[in-house]
Amino acid sequence: MNARHGNEPVLRAAGLTRRFGGLTAVSGVDLALDLHQIHAVIGTNGAGKSTLINLLSGELAPTAGQLFLHGTDVTGWPQPRLACAGVGRSYQRNNVFAPLSVRENCRLAAQSRAQRAWRLWESAQSCRTARALGDEAMERAGLADCAALPAMALSHGQKRQLEVAMCLATQPVALLLDEPLAGMGAEESARMLSLLRDLREGHAILLVEHDMDAVFAVADRITVMVNGVVIASGEPAAIRANREVQQAYLGDDEGAGELADVAADADSHPHGAGAAAGTRKECAA
Ligand SMILES: Nc1ncnc2c1ncn2[C@@H]1O[C@H](COP(=O)(O)OP(=O)(O)OP(=O)(O)O)[C@@H](O)[C@H]1O
Ligand SMILES: [Mg+2]
Repeated sequence: MNARHGNEPVLRAAGLTRRFGGLTAVSGVDLALDLHQIHAVIGTNGAGKSTLINLLSGELAPTAGQLFLHGTDVTGWPQPRLACAGVGRSYQRNNVFAPLSVRENCRLAAQSRAQRAWRLWESAQSCRTARALGDEAMERAGLADCAALPAMALSHGQKRQLEVAMCLATQPVALLLDEPLAGMGAEESARMLSLLRDLREGHAILLVEHDMDAVFAVADRITVMVNGVVIASGEPAAIRANREVQQAYLGDDEGAGELADVAADADSHPHGAGAAAGTRKECAA
């Protein structure tokens, strides 16, 4: 599919809803991911962020609502089909093959998109292609020096980088990243943020993240979820000024002030690595 059809966003959710029995984890969510933009989705624990990613990536079917990729209705497409069409994702929990090398992890991810590698008469060519794509993704994610290391030998931050590399190896246009900075130290966070800024070129990125310093440092747009519902969506400055967001997010006026401080701080270092070096501010549960 082409990167863009007219003015259509790369990926667009319309009224996306997912119920688990009596619980509505995602409720009527409208959201658009545009090329060259980082769209952050924030919210307290259990707000429905990962469920939203599962819906956008096809891992879960929606109970109601629609999903469009470059304007084409792809509602109900399963994850492998959406991955082939250009929707890639990373997971909240580490999802790498621990005993395999970094290079092999990336090659397997590239092969998963080709989905034809198991035909014997095609294997030589498709393996070559998969290796080239895997290597390219590995280098882009800054892991070339670790190519031969087993994934289990990587630091936590490098494993998260490998997850992004594996996602890139599938050649996505839309990148859905579920807490890529979780558990990282300041240096690793700064490296990941710099990679995300790089990836903005050529991709539409959805970033689910609890680290407010990082979110306000890199996001072009922020959507805020509470109990499965979007309560606000807009540019970082508008989100920072939104009283409902401040109160829903941190629960009191003191917290509201704190969110404003983080946002103001990020503004004074626009898109700078300094944001990653700041204190991590997790959502209140
Ligand atoms: N497969 C499932 N079956 C039943 N309930 C689920 C399922 N997946 C998620 N939920 C529930 O849906 C709600 C939203 O969960 P989700 O994991 O999407 O939240 P989240 O915003 O990603 O939270 P966190 O910040 O802690 O990762 C939670 O109440 C969760 O328990
Ligand atoms: Mg989650």
